[in-house]
Amino acid sequence: MPASANEGQVLKLIRELTRELKEQAFKVATDPTNLCRRVDASLKRAFVQCPSVKGGKLNILDFSARKQAGEKISMATCYDYWSARILNQSDLDTLLVGDSLAMVMHGYDSTVHATVEMMATHVAAVRRGAPDKFVIGDMPFLSVRKGLQPAMEAVGALMQAGGNCVKIEGAAGQLDIMAHIVESGVPVMAHLGLTPQSVEAFGGHKVQGRDDAAAAAIVDAAQRVEDAGCFALVLECVPQGLARAISAQLTIPTIGIGAGAGTDGQVLVLQDMLGMDADFKPKFLRHYMDGHHTLLDAVNHYHQDVTSGNFPCAKEAYA
Ligand code: KIV
Repeated sequence: MPASANEGQVLKLIRELTRELKEQAFKVATDPTNLCRRVDASLKRAFVQCPSVKGGKLNILDFSARKQAGEKISMATCYDYWSARILNQSDLDTLLVGDSLAMVMHGYDSTVHATVEMMATHVAAVRRGAPDKFVIGDMPFLSVRKGLQPAMEAVGALMQAGGNCVKIEGAAGQLDIMAHIVESGVPVMAHLGLTPQSVEAFGGHKVQGRDDAAAAAIVDAAQRVEDAGCFALVLECVPQGLARAISAQLTIPTIGIGAGAGTDGQVLVLQDMLGMDADFKPKFLRHYMDGHHTLLDAVNHYHQDVTSGNFPCAKEAYA
């Protein structure tokens, strides 16, 4: 019984390869040189077809392969070196250095405060901690709206900091620049629905695409970002039926957050899923840990040990 869908697929490939090798061996049994050449070609093809093994580093080609194979993509945000070191050992497929770090790590009230310099610093820290993960660098507020040169400099900064691609919020008015970035050899992940950099224009963090016109606009934008060459699309806070329909229409994978189960993958903010803010519990969020209380209890335990003289003990001191 395969332990995961990925392993199941690898086993299937191995079975197919074995069958093919047997057939080839039978056909060219009298021609060992030819056999070696064919075996070599088969092995190369198998490697190209083989999906990333669970826990291995994804590359850009794996995203669409995952969608075709019906395998979901897991993504979480990651902003710093120490959590990147832990996530590097996890089974997560990919890490997003999201501009949400302006709120989570820097305490701002929205993502509009993220800058290119701030993003590049965090991408570099995550890359140092997670050398084995596909890292997505989020293009911050207005960074693709100031003209070609500043946009390309921002892309360069995130890629040189260690990103494997960039993520860009929105579509209207920036499809040409998105296509240019793709043509420049930088993979682009799009982001539609509730795009938090436009929070002021939305009048708050609200579910998008609820009425027919708004839903049609998101469907249209989704098709346009795919046509512009984006390799994946984040869909944030849209009705699940809409997300499912877009995911069925596009050939590129969709990664949902607050978009239901019909997308090709899911993303959550790490601190949210770990329950670091006990009071933050939007409908779409699942807590996988009571991080707030676990951390608080640990720190209070330490405080108690220090103040009671229980820490350090003899074994924790140098002779
Ligand atoms: O910045 C971010 O964390 C994001 C995700 C919520 C998709 O864009």
